[in-house]
Amino acid sequence: MNVLLIGSGGREHALAWKLAASPLLTKLYAAPCNPGIAKEAELVALDIADHKAVVAFCTANAIDLVVVGPEAPLVAGIADDLRAAGIKVFGASKAAARLEGSKGFTKDLCARFNIPTAAYGRFSDAEAAKAYVRKQGAPIVVKADGLAAGKGVTVAMTEAEALAAIDDCFSGSFGAAGAEVVVEEFMTGEEASFFCLCDGTTALPFGTAQDHKQVGDGDTGPNTGGMGAYSPAPVMTPEIIERTMKEIIEPTMRGMAEIGSPFSGVLFAGLMITSSGPKLIEYNVRFGDPECQVLMMRLKDDLLVLLEAAADGQLAHMSARWRDETALTVVMAAKGYPGTPEKGSVIRGLDDAEQGGAAVFHAGTALSGGEIVANGGRVLNVTAMAKTVTEAQKQAYKAVDRIDWPGGFCRRDIGWRAVARET
Ligand code: AMP
Ligand code: GLY
Repeated sequence: MNVLLIGSGGREHALAWKLAASPLLTKLYAAPCNPGIAKEAELVALDIADHKAVVAFCTANAIDLVVVGPEAPLVAGIADDLRAAGIKVFGASKAAARLEGSKGFTKDLCARFNIPTAAYGRFSDAEAAKAYVRKQGAPIVVKADGLAAGKGVTVAMTEAEALAAIDDCFSGSFGAAGAEVVVEEFMTGEEASFFCLCDGTTALPFGTAQDHKQVGDGDTGPNTGGMGAYSPAPVMTPEIIERTMKEIIEPTMRGMAEIGSPFSGVLFAGLMITSSGPKLIEYNVRFGDPECQVLMMRLKDDLLVLLEAAADGQLAHMSARWRDETALTVVMAAKGYPGTPEKGSVIRGLDDAEQGGAAVFHAGTALSGGEIVANGGRVLNVTAMAKTVTEAQKQAYKAVDRIDWPGGFCRRDIGWRAVARET
């Protein structure tokens, strides 16, 4: 099969790495790509916002399957445009991508189909949102409705903080994404990420993970896109997975079909495991980044077969098998992240780092004068797998320490919660 992979981050490098291992793969193309992905795929100079150009490329190169990594092209309708041209695609339609593209849409779906989530209100003007906050009191959570690159959420410990977050949203800090806000109940518990491959009807459980959103050790400092992750998530016991499927995922699949937007692609549920069971924090319509990196390391089966089955509506006949080990990834970021990361610093020792069996996925790198340089906030995902999370953590940091990159930094405690459970 000829496959086009869309995206350019660590998630897509991990997908490319796993797709490249498929005996069914003839040729893998990638756009916009990065130097890590380029080891597995042929880089294509394509503007992925230009759907006509993407369709033309697929037709000219006999592409059998397009795999879309990030959410933005899905929200922009790339899957619809490809399907309309008769090209098979793994990824949600524009209407189904509202599960990530609009928090208000998802909350209304939860209310209508009885899916457990935080109580909420939707507001398109600041005064009404503020009145709701004053009535509910703190702690409370304020979210910009639309896509805000992971930055539109304020978990407010005080009423003043919540009121300020509302002003922030409506003053245009998140552009159009903040034209509406969702204000919701603060939930407590342990967070976990749960993934399903979906084909419009069937949802196939596709692994669990936990990530670390905050930039500093001990989960301190500002939020980021994720500083590291591990899989499986110990909190996702078989019983919690079963409840999540019955109470959250299956009603979502039925609800999306009923409203005429069947969900196909990958459904990523951000969950809070509360004392009364799993509750939905949010949906994403893509793999987590860096959660995907640890999932790909653990997946035993052929990813290409599974993604094609999802695109073909054939998941009812499929299963996914996982290595009975823990995979852990450490994100190395450029100094300055999550503020303004310094670009261009030289990174060496990457081959060395992979000697012990670790994999280094490229997230934000570029080639410059024959050297790999930093070209983004999150730059590398150093990933290892072992029988225990303690050992996986040790191996991942051993690989990190082989990388010669004075311009970068990482957290030193990825996996701490699971490590503490083991000791
Ligand atoms: P989101 O972008 O919706 O995943 O939110 C980012 C982070 O904010 C989540 O990972 C949680 O840590 C936190 N969060 C979001 N909603 C809630 C909530 N209702 N209660 C507690 N924490 C939340
Ligand atoms: N690591 C969290 C995310 O991909 O949304």
